[in-house]
Amino acid sequence: MSAPRKSMHGEWSGRFAFILAATGSAVGLGNIWKFPYITGENGGGAFVIVYLICIASIGIPIMMAEVMLGRRGRQSPINTMRSLAEEAGASRFWTLLGWAGVVAGFLILSYYSVIAGWALAYVFRTGSGLFLGVTADGAGSLFNQFIADPEKLLAWHTIFIVMTMAVVSRGVSGGLEKSVRFLMPALFVILVILLGYAMNTSEFSRGVRFLFNPDFTKITADGVLTAMGHAFFTLSLGMGAIMVYGSYLPKNISIAKTSIIIALMDTLVALVAGLIIFPIVFTNGLEPGSGPGLIFKTLPIAFGHMPGGIFFGTLFFILLVFAAWSSAISLIEPAVAWLVENRGHTRVYASVVMGALTWLVGLLTVFSFNIWSDYKPLAHISIFEDKTVFDLLDYLTANIMLPLGGVLIAIFVGWVLRRETSMHELDIHDRMHIGYRTWHVLVKVVAPIAVIIVFLKGIGVIDAVFG
Ligand code: PFF
Repeated sequence: MSAPRKSMHGEWSGRFAFILAATGSAVGLGNIWKFPYITGENGGGAFVIVYLICIASIGIPIMMAEVMLGRRGRQSPINTMRSLAEEAGASRFWTLLGWAGVVAGFLILSYYSVIAGWALAYVFRTGSGLFLGVTADGAGSLFNQFIADPEKLLAWHTIFIVMTMAVVSRGVSGGLEKSVRFLMPALFVILVILLGYAMNTSEFSRGVRFLFNPDFTKITADGVLTAMGHAFFTLSLGMGAIMVYGSYLPKNISIAKTSIIIALMDTLVALVAGLIIFPIVFTNGLEPGSGPGLIFKTLPIAFGHMPGGIFFGTLFFILLVFAAWSSAISLIEPAVAWLVENRGHTRVYASVVMGALTWLVGLLTVFSFNIWSDYKPLAHISIFEDKTVFDLLDYLTANIMLPLGGVLIAIFVGWVLRRETSMHELDIHDRMHIGYRTWHVLVKVVAPIAVIIVFLKGIGVIDAVFG
């Protein structure tokens, strides 16, 4: 089976639509919810520097590789990998990479949707004035009470899954593209407004120092792995989301330029989110390392005291939902596209099936915050001893599956795909082109070696072997 010239699912209307959609995939809970709390847990500045290095040296080159494979294969990641491996005369085992991506996307969406459900709930909680004049303790206990109630989490999780599937079922131009055209610009505007608020808090400069002054004694091997895993997570790499978006990319749009723009926008949003959240954390005497509840415990305090707080707060959580929404659709698109291609199902049917499965697996996360909060399934392994089922899902996908998926994509593009193919896709005519050679060395050698070392060190294998 060779690759078709156009995707059967349609195409983006142009370069801007692709940038919006891919940025929509990249910018999500990862930037606004996860980046601040893992930065807080890993000591701040040094973690941020490692993260930025990973984005530039591994993230951008692998993003280019993924978009390239997608545009070349023009199908869901499973079928793209199959036909490109065939075209290059390589083993059919590469198809498994597409499968691993589908599984990763599905597992990520199962917990992503639960957290997006928190954001949905907070739209209504903020809008109803619940946080007016709230103290730090009050915001913390409101959050703790909320996640202690499995029925509430389940209800919001269900609503979010239905929202996601409603967009996916409408297809590439009628669903995916239409939604991001509105969601992304709105998100940027509200971030700027909130940044204005944070700059006027008394501890703004402390927040800036926390984010940008590195103290390398605070970073551990596990922290480096988390930073690297997060670089993959935040750019939506290593599981075929960007690949499937690349399969809808019209010819003659520059892969290098668009990838760089997408990564820059994503990084900007994460840093701005940090600049909003840490000043509020310090101004209110809170702990930056307080885990997944961080933004839900801190931002309501700001909204409870600022003029127009109900308005801005509600708007903020709406936009967090939007950011999560445009990412969630990309998490499940590879699986839906595959069901349509191989099983001949309609998009609507494929979306319902995948939505129902994801919803079911999401129960694991729902219960991790309440009835199973003391259940640590791998407590006998030291790095996992305090991890709940949700923590394990997050670790497995972000720290293991995405980096490994990303490395295999890099290896495929660097070692298996013919050079002529990658040169053609990047519109390069001279083998000696400096940009091309740099990129090629990064995907062929640097990214695989770096990821494997960080990975083995992070999970403790290197220490176990070399003592
Ligand atoms: N990049 C998204 C975020 O930062 O929230 C999450 C994500 C989306 C990860 C799509 C992976 C993916 F394929």
